[in-house]
Amino acid sequence: MEYIKEDLLGIDKNGILSSRGIELISFSSVDSTQAAARRHVLAGGCAPALFVADTQTGGRGRLGRSFYSPADTGVYMTLLLDVTEDAQADVAHITSAVAVAVAATAEKYAKVRCQIKWVNDILINGRKVCGILAESFFANGRRYVGIGVGVNLSTSFFPEDISALACSLCPSGSAPDRGELTLALNAGIYDIYQKVRSGDTSYMSEYKSRSAVLGRQVTFIRNGASYDGLAVDIDENGGLVIAVDGNETVTLTGGEISLRIKDTEKNNE
Ligand code: BTN
Repeated sequence: MEYIKEDLLGIDKNGILSSRGIELISFSSVDSTQAAARRHVLAGGCAPALFVADTQTGGRGRLGRSFYSPADTGVYMTLLLDVTEDAQADVAHITSAVAVAVAATAEKYAKVRCQIKWVNDILINGRKVCGILAESFFANGRRYVGIGVGVNLSTSFFPEDISALACSLCPSGSAPDRGELTLALNAGIYDIYQKVRSGDTSYMSEYKSRSAVLGRQVTFIRNGASYDGLAVDIDENGGLVIAVDGNETVTLTGGEISLRIKDTEKNNE
């Protein structure tokens, strides 16, 4: 596994990382930037730090799934934050906020509408272009969150099991520089995180307006059982409110729940 500690000033020309005190740690190849972030902390490293890789050999997604991470055609990154002093910074709020920041940044680059499929997938025309994985953990008496983002930037080949579900942000070769997109994503994530930690949930209105799920019939699987319902709202904590069996509503929180939109063929959960 190759490990390169980049010259921050060489890459970060506009000071997006350095002005926020974010250390950059980059790999040509790594198992998972999420795992690298944990190892960094356990080895005595500090946060905030940004881990980026040209490819991942064991990229991870939600629900124990893998994340396809081919070389040089995607952005694979983890922003590691120390959230010990930030009582408001729970994973649910961070996930929703980060989804808004990533969707807005991706949309700016792709110039095509980016929607959010609850809880953390970014879609273009119903296909997944980006996945987000926020994981909280304790180490050395402090609490950290690793915010993992994987973007299919210019990937043109996907494995058969996801080829009908996935897409790339810039499939036709006009992809922005990966480094530039990585820095822009980080600026957006870091800045929206400042809202989360202050208890400002104003980003939830954009989360809702970007929702690919609200007003749709969905199927969700919880504890092995499958339920159908209508997605009617997203609450202030990012919970998805579903009307099942007429009047009864249930609120889903992120966790181990798999969700499918019923009236579309393109589903990745
Ligand atoms: C999902 O789709 O369920 C979330 C995917 C998150 C993928 C990113 S890629 C960078 C970081 N490292 C990982 O192993 N996973 C996240």
